[in-house]
Amino acid sequence: MHPSTLVGLLAFAAAASAIPSSHRQAHSSSSIRNLKSKIKNVVVLTMENRSLDNLLGGQKHKGLENSINNGPFCNPYNVTDPSQGHHCTAPRDYNSVSDDPSHAVTGNTMEFFSEWTPDNALIASGKLVPNNNGFIHEQIHNYGSSANKAKLAKDVMNYYTEEQVPVLTSLVQNYLTFNHWHSDVAGPTDPNRFAIVAGTSAGHGSNDETFGTYAFTERSVFQAVDETNHTWLNYWDTDGGTGPESHWFSWTKETNNTGKVVPMEQFYTDAGNGNLPEFSYLNPSCCGVGTTSMHDSGLISDGEAFIKKVYDALRNSPQWEESLFILTFDETGGFHDHVPPPLATRPDNLTYTETAPNGKNYTLDFNRLGGRIPTLLISPWVSKGFVEQKGTNHHGETMSYSASSILRTLGYLWDFAPFTPRVADAASWEHLIQTTPRKDTPTVLPNPAA
Ligand SMILES: *[C@@H]1O[C@H](CO)[C@@H](O)[C@H](O)[C@H]1NC(C)=O
Ligand SMILES: *[C@@H]1O[C@H](CO)[C@@H](O)[C@H](O)[C@H]1NC(C)=O
Ligand SMILES: *[C@@H]1O[C@H](CO)[C@@H](O)[C@H](O)[C@H]1NC(C)=O
Ligand SMILES: *[C@@H]1O[C@H](CO)[C@@H](O)[C@H](O)[C@H]1NC(C)=O
Ligand SMILES: *[C@@H]1O[C@H](CO)[C@@H](O)[C@H](O)[C@H]1NC(C)=O
Ligand SMILES: *[C@@H]1O[C@H](CO)[C@@H](O)[C@H](O)[C@H]1NC(C)=O
Repeated sequence: MHPSTLVGLLAFAAAASAIPSSHRQAHSSSSIRNLKSKIKNVVVLTMENRSLDNLLGGQKHKGLENSINNGPFCNPYNVTDPSQGHHCTAPRDYNSVSDDPSHAVTGNTMEFFSEWTPDNALIASGKLVPNNNGFIHEQIHNYGSSANKAKLAKDVMNYYTEEQVPVLTSLVQNYLTFNHWHSDVAGPTDPNRFAIVAGTSAGHGSNDETFGTYAFTERSVFQAVDETNHTWLNYWDTDGGTGPESHWFSWTKETNNTGKVVPMEQFYTDAGNGNLPEFSYLNPSCCGVGTTSMHDSGLISDGEAFIKKVYDALRNSPQWEESLFILTFDETGGFHDHVPPPLATRPDNLTYTETAPNGKNYTLDFNRLGGRIPTLLISPWVSKGFVEQKGTNHHGETMSYSASSILRTLGYLWDFAPFTPRVADAASWEHLIQTTPRKDTPTVLPNPAA
């Protein structure tokens, strides 16, 4: 063999080892076997209300489609009157946003379809696709009388630079980021938080008072993990404001599992002692200054400090070598993202109706995903700086990931069946788990920007 051929082959082998092995496909028995042999502890942290183009829009990392790599992206101030001006994505110059952008169901329809009550038949047939053009219009509609339009436009369109979010930047550069991950419900917080753990929002489309009362009879990941004899805890920031999701289900009360909601402080102790359960679900606090969820009225830097604290504890835990940390968000928070949300399998036959600002009723059939959100896999078993594009469902079709992808994959890890058709048809990601552990993962993450 010619020496240069050998050099070429070695270079090819080195490059190949940095990407997930192509012979392992999603939903295949070999990728599932590999997942089961490597991962014993899963930690899920669901942050609040941020789109990918908002929070990771300034990440220059290759493979991420975002504002800095592919933009600028522009939205008009008024979707029916372009002469009123427009704003294009640019770096932010501040940390929090006081006018919470709408991400109610009809706020979402304006943001994605440029109308509050789009024709569902056209959407279902694929003839009407989102143009992601109405973010500023919706914000000005809600707050335009009390504030300056240019500021409102910047609030919803602009993005954080790498320097402004050093914790996330380090995670993107060191671990695996999904480029096509959407929230499951094109609506607000609680329906999405519910869908993350149950694969449906049970027909709910708003943050109504049902959440929080053990009112739901749906099957949850907590029940599935428990029934397959795996351990779990729902760690909860006692300042409150999100979830705790496990307390939404009647099962939790009927089976005397209410005590599995424990203070966040115990997570750091359990990680330090190697006592983390197999499944840890983490609820950050929300929503004002001083809270940890990255909700728009709280500081991004406080959310970064929280993520760093969780990471540093897990990274230095005796359980790190068999852990997988999924960092995700509930929904986009009404912040701009340029990728149109795709159609998706309905989880059930339920619908949700609300009255739009134009006075008409709009019914959400739950047959499409919400906006694109940041989601990362953090583990010694994922490739450094890898950006995953679309995935595949069990029919072999290429599709975007969504919150249901977590339930689909955890079902493979712990042998429980998909709860809903949405989960069954979700892209799984167990094939992204490598066969050898990394030794180059950062011991601690950088400090957040002041
Ligand atoms: C964003 O999330 C927070 C926390 O759940 C919620 O209070 C707020 O209403 C959300 N924004 C919207 C418009 O739903
Ligand atoms: C958009 O422009 C139309 C036509 O000028 C006007 O009727 C409407 O109120 C405007 N909407 C907003 C949100 O400013
Ligand atoms: C879980 O443990 C119980 C009690 O030991 C046993 O009856 C049951 O079959 C186990 N379930 C699974 C899925 O292993
Ligand atoms: C829950 O606790 C109550 C009161 O101690 C007891 O009667 C009941 O049998 C328990 N249920 C389960 C499923 O363990
Ligand atoms: C929805 O309703 C149809 C017709 O009644 C039924 O065949 C189907 O199984 C239902 N789907 C779900 C997910 O419940
Ligand atoms: C919208 O739905 C509500 C509740 O179902 C109903 O009371 C109202 O009459 C409907 N409005 C319109 C314009 O159809």
